[in-house]
Amino acid sequence: TTLVGLVGWRGMVGSVLMDRMAQERDFDLIEPLFFSTSNAGGAAPSFAKNETQLQNAFDLEQLKRCEIIITCQGGDYTSEVYPKLRAAGWAGHWIDAASTLRMASDAVIVLDPVNLPVIQQSLAKGGRDWIGGNCTVSCMLMGVGALYKAGLVEWMSTQTYQAASGGGAQHMRELLTQYGTLNAEVRALLDDPKSAILEIDRKIVEKQRSLSADETANFGVPLGGSLIPWIDKDLGNGQSKEEWKGMAETNKILGQGEGFGTAAVPVDGFCVRIGAMRCHSQALTFKLKKDVPLADIEAMIAADNEWVKVVPNTREATIRDLTPVAVTGTMTIPVGRLRKLAMGPEYLGAFTVGDQLLWGAAEPLRRMLRILLE
Ligand code: HSE
Repeated sequence: TTLVGLVGWRGMVGSVLMDRMAQERDFDLIEPLFFSTSNAGGAAPSFAKNETQLQNAFDLEQLKRCEIIITCQGGDYTSEVYPKLRAAGWAGHWIDAASTLRMASDAVIVLDPVNLPVIQQSLAKGGRDWIGGNCTVSCMLMGVGALYKAGLVEWMSTQTYQAASGGGAQHMRELLTQYGTLNAEVRALLDDPKSAILEIDRKIVEKQRSLSADETANFGVPLGGSLIPWIDKDLGNGQSKEEWKGMAETNKILGQGEGFGTAAVPVDGFCVRIGAMRCHSQALTFKLKKDVPLADIEAMIAADNEWVKVVPNTREATIRDLTPVAVTGTMTIPVGRLRKLAMGPEYLGAFTVGDQLLWGAAEPLRRMLRILLE
């Protein structure tokens, strides 16, 4: 069986990946070789078969044994190890959750329910680098990819509501710690139904503004009871890196735009961190190339893949099915609030939610493994 190296399997994305691989019985098809950056020589996790010892994740000789390597170890690891491994002549398949190699000309951003033809074309040409996309982009395309595949999109604007998990495990903990601190601050007042709400509000904002450096170490500012309209680096042109990824990655996933000799579809908007745990949500505005009846649009979206679910545009269905709480831990990508906007019949509004750790990170990687094993 194929020897598959697993790096970064203990972290948050890695753990979700291990769970999904176990659920889908991927381990039945491979010989896993577990690597560690800190505990080489220790015991591999229970998924191990013959290779029961953890190998050093920086040991090129051990890495070179693998036909396929999957890493969720992060961008610093990729930057350090990947070039050395290729320089040492390793010709295996590299499957990576980090963004480091995403825009490299030889790399494909993998999201096979959306871009299997792009993956297959690259495979046929000897492609070996398979990189998971930005979570927001992957979840968006799982929901509304049908409109892109049909060539209907003239442009799209996205306003995101991104969960704490996008920053990492420590960010999720920090958010909950902040919520706890804020609750504790007004606990007595909340317990008294006659207390004044403006007094509660004043105490909360005072507490938010005076949170210790420890309590905001990851986000830099309070997130609990607030929001942060900037995600990732400042590109210096008024755009955040997360916003830049929207257009760059959407087009690259679809195999269009720069590098493909075709026009890119403009995608732009604002990326905002909110106090959700692990589901990214986004409000989408489309300018379609023509006036397509709403019923046809709904049917196209619903038929695109087995995970997307059109949520009827009613209050009841929306608040039940179109929230991070409803979607967390599931593979379902609901798309709702579908309606034509006041600007004209080519303007379509939509809202979608996706588990940032599943379709946004782990799932496309394990599905790429399956494609390679076929
Ligand atoms: N950049 C994303 C976020 C993480 O911060 O939410 C996953 O790509």
